[in-house]
Order: sequence, then C-alpha cells, then structure tokens
Amino acid sequence: MTMKKITMAALSSAMVAGAAWAAYAFAQEPASAPRVATQAAQPQATAAMSDADKALIEKGRYLAAAADCIACHTAKNGKPFAGGLGIDSPIGKIYSTNITPDKATGIGDYTFQEFDDAVRRGVAKNGSSLYPAMPYVSYAKVKPSDVKALYAYFMHGVQPVAQPNRSTDIMWPLSMRWPLRFWRMAFAPDAITDDRPLPNDPIVRGRYLVEGLAHCSACHTPRGVGLQEKSLTDDGHTFLSGGVIDGYLAKNLRGDSKDGLGTWSEADIVAFLKGGRTAHSAAFGGMTEVVENSTQHMSDADLFAIAAYLKTLAPADAAGSALLPNPAAATALRAGTDRSNGALTYVDNCAACHRTTGVGYSGTFPALALSSAVNSDDPTSLIHLVLQGGEMPWTKSAPTHYGMPGFSDRLTNRDVADVLTFVRSSWGNHAPAVTADQVAKVREAVKASAQPIRAENP
Ligand code: HEC
Ligand code: HEC
Ligand code: HEC
Repeated sequence: MTMKKITMAALSSAMVAGAAWAAYAFAQEPASAPRVATQAAQPQATAAMSDADKALIEKGRYLAAAADCIACHTAKNGKPFAGGLGIDSPIGKIYSTNITPDKATGIGDYTFQEFDDAVRRGVAKNGSSLYPAMPYVSYAKVKPSDVKALYAYFMHGVQPVAQPNRSTDIMWPLSMRWPLRFWRMAFAPDAITDDRPLPNDPIVRGRYLVEGLAHCSACHTPRGVGLQEKSLTDDGHTFLSGGVIDGYLAKNLRGDSKDGLGTWSEADIVAFLKGGRTAHSAAFGGMTEVVENSTQHMSDADLFAIAAYLKTLAPADAAGSALLPNPAAATALRAGTDRSNGALTYVDNCAACHRTTGVGYSGTFPALALSSAVNSDDPTSLIHLVLQGGEMPWTKSAPTHYGMPGFSDRLTNRDVADVLTFVRSSWGNHAPAVTADQVAKVREAVKASAQPIRAENP
C-alpha cells in the first residue's frame, strides 16, 4: 500500500468507528441515569487502612463525582457503577461496563496501569480500544496523581457488584473494534504526565476541571466529521460553543451576551452548577443530571474556579451584540391586540408561569425574556422542552424542583413553532423563527406523542 492508501484506509476506518460511536451524539446516558444514586456507594475503608489511604479514597470519591462516572456506569434502577446502561448509536447499542471492584465481572483485578490505560487512553485490559462514548479524550488531561486517587476509590470505596457486562448490540462487521484504534490515533490527545501541583490560580484550576474530569466539552463542543470534538481546549471560538446531545442543545458557554454566558456573573454560574438554577434560569435536559450527579457535589472553591475559567472564554461570535429589553410584546399581550397564533398559544399555555412580561418568577419559573437559552440559534432544546416538559434538578441546596408540563399532545407542530417564534422575538429576544418542520423532526427524534388532530391543522 502506498502512504496515501494507508491514510485513506485509516481515515475510512476512523469514519466507521466514528459512525459506530455516533453513540455519543444520541447518548441515552444522562437522560436515563439514576436521579439520586450518587450517595449510594458506601465506603469499604476498613480499620486496617492508614489515614493516608482513607484520605486518598475520599479524594477519589470527590474526583469521581466531579467526573460523573456514575452517570454512564449505572443502569436505570441499577446498582451504582455496575454498568449496563445502553447508549444508543445508529448502528446499535453500546453498554457501559461494570467498574465496581468485583473481580470476576468488574475491574477488581485491574492494575493501576490497566485502569489508567482505560480511563485516559481508551484501551481496555484486553488491549482492545474503547468507544469514545467513554470520555477518555477529556480524562487524558487528568493528572496521574488524581487518577491514583480515583483508582483507590474504585478499588476500596465502591461496593463490589457481580454483574456481567453486556456486549454491544452492534452487528458484525461494524462491531469490529480495530478501527477505533485509528480513531484514537487521529483524535485522542496523549495522556498528560505532568504531575506537579497547579499554581494557586482559580482560572488554572477551572480549566483543569472543565477540560478534564468534568468533561464539559463532551456535550458543549460541536463535533466534526469523525464525531470528534472540534476542539479540546480554548481555541478562541469553537471550544464549548455548543453541541446537540440526546436531543438537547448543550448550548454555548462562551462570552457571547446573546446566547452565551456573557451576561452571567460568576455567582450566577456557581448557583446554577450548585442548585440547578439562578434567579432567571433553570437547568433542563441533560444538564439536570449533570447538576444532580456531579456539580452539586463539588466544593464552592472548585465551582468558583470553573466559573472564573468560563468567564475567560471570548465570544464565539465576535460581532454579536447584547439584547435590550423591549416592552412592546407585554403591552400587546395585556391589551389583547396581538391575535397571532403564537401570542394566543402563549397566553393560553405559558403565561401562567412565565408571565406576559416573560420574566417568570424568580427562582421558580425561569425568565424567557433575554434568556441565553431562549436566544440560541438552534431551537432543538426549546422544542424538546415544550413537547416533553422538564423538571428542575433536585439538589441539596435547592430541594424544591418545579416542573413544566409537556405539550406534545396538546399543541400541533404549527402551534409549537408559532409559540416559540413568538417567544424568540418578544421582550427584546432576537433569535431565528422556528418552523413546523423543525418541530416535526424533533417530535420524531425524541419519540414524543403524535400531534393532536384539529380541523384547521390537518
Ligand atoms: C459519558 C459516559 C461515560 C462516563 C462519564 C464514564 N464512562 Fe467509563 N465507559 C463508558 C462506556 C460506554 C464504556 C464502554 C466502552 C466500550 O465498550 O468500548 C466505558 C468503559 C470504561 C472502562 C473500561 C472497560 C472495563 O473494563 O470496565 C473503565 C475502566 C471505565 N469506563 C472507567 C470510568 C471511570 C473511572 C469514569 C469516571 C472517571 C468513567 N468511566 C466515566 C462511558 C462512560
Ligand atoms: C451530558 C451533557 C452535558 C455535560 C457533560 C455538561 N452539560 Fe451543561 N448543559 C447541557 C445541556 C443539554 C444544556 C442546555 C439545557 C440548560 O440550559 O440547562 C446545558 C446547559 C448548561 C448551562 C446553562 C447555560 C445557559 O445559558 O442557560 C451551563 C452554565 C452549563 N451547562 C455548564 C456546564 C459545565 C460547566 C459543565 C461541566 C462541568 C457542563 N455544563 C457539562 C449538557 C451538558
Ligand atoms: C406550570 C408552569 C409552566 C408552564 C405552564 C410552562 N412552563 Fe416553561 N418552564 C417552567 C419550569 C418550571 C421550567 C424549568 C424546567 C426545567 O428546569 O426542566 C421552564 C422552562 C422553560 C424554558 C427554558 C428557560 C430557561 O432559560 O431555562 C422555556 C424556553 C420554556 N419553559 C417555555 C415555555 C413555553 C413556550 C410554554 C408554553 C407552551 C411553557 N414554558 C409553559 C414552567 C412552566
């Protein structure tokens, strides 16, 4: 083979692997993960252990929460970390594995090196490559000393569970794992070796967590042709600029004022990650489980570090401008002068909670006016939420979780498109109109009930 042919073969294999693992783009993972199992794994630390061992295990427990290992490695209603959660891909399901210390079915006989190879390099104990649904491209940025703490926790802090792994539902030949090796070669960074402590700077600590353990970019960064994250570190515009996952837009977290975090203070970001809400916004979709399983367990210092780092990200759209409040829509709704289908649908179905002013109720019903979530160009999240409703995260610091009903069997595709178009162009909001076609596509993709049949909407 010539060099060119080899490159082509490698590339097409990488593409096959990429397709197999489109997995991630459609991951069922966060949506079906356990709601409150995080605390369930009891420590196994025994009296024979030294205080240093116990401290290492506790450090590992904290890092495992920051890394959200439980979200993927626990099946719905399953035992913590025993695996078996199905992650959908267009060619079949991939199942997460048992990472409890059970020797026969889990990772009890993994050496530290084998554990490190799986977590940071995507290589299983038997030498085969893992699907990148396991976010080892992010974990490659975790320091060896932190991986040691994780290892101590998984060996001694987690209850062993005997539960055999399921093989993927992917059919041969797509089930062959060797092409994943080329995917790794093309897209996975080398695991870091620098184990020196980080300088005492919250921004450096924040970047370390965001890029590594917390793998925020696995959801929030757009993906390329091989379904690789387009950027794994801040490149000035793409990193964390938004990606669709599990039928939701994991939106732009960069400095844009309109649809990013430009108008969020560091305190807002911390409140959101800790309690799942700010005065004006609430986590929904895949972010709900991230808050419940992971970020609410992080220390305030780490959350402030994450916020400080996120605030350093320049806007994705350098030419973007801030939104300005505009009272016209609220005035028209109150006077009853806007008779459009979007306005009428809003008054009938949404205004009771989100109000005619679109400002909602602080900490209870999020604001739609000037909301960064509402003003994202891609309306996927909003359509999904209106069709299926949502429930705020359930956290230690904010235990009351308000819900929004789903409207899939009440509103037609046209109604959903009109009401969202109304919301996205009122009170100062400025985002593209939503079409009935876009709603139909999301309705099908998220398996929402069929639209109601109405005489005027055949
Ligand atoms: C976004 C989902 C996701 C997260 C988060 C995740 N994993 Fe995984 N992990 C997977 C999947 C899926 C597999 C199986 C991949 C395959 O079969 O190729 C896997 C495989 C593994 C394996 C190797 C297979 C084996 O023998 O069990 C280990 C070890 C592992 N994960 C540990 C961890 C640890 C430790 C964490 C947290 C630091 C973690 N994972 C977080 C999805 C995830
Ligand atoms: C499993 C996928 C996933 C991961 C991992 C994830 N997010 Fe999210 N995130 C989402 C989705 C989906 C949304 C959109 C829904 C919403 O606004 O709550 C979102 C929304 C957000 C918002 C709200 C932004 C706004 O303008 O309304 C913030 C802030 C955020 N994420 C921060 C983070 C940080 C920081 C991390 C890493 C610690 C992270 N996310 C990891 C899926 C994810
Ligand atoms: C019963 C009260 C209620 C009604 C009625 C309601 N919502 Fe909501 N809405 C909520 C709650 C609660 C949330 C937060 C949901 C979550 O966190 O999962 C929310 C979230 C949202 C968001 C995300 C806002 C953000 O910044 O996070 C949008 C957009 C939205 N609703 C639009 C609508 C539209 C359009 C309608 C009418 C078709 C509607 N809502 C009806 C209570 C309601």
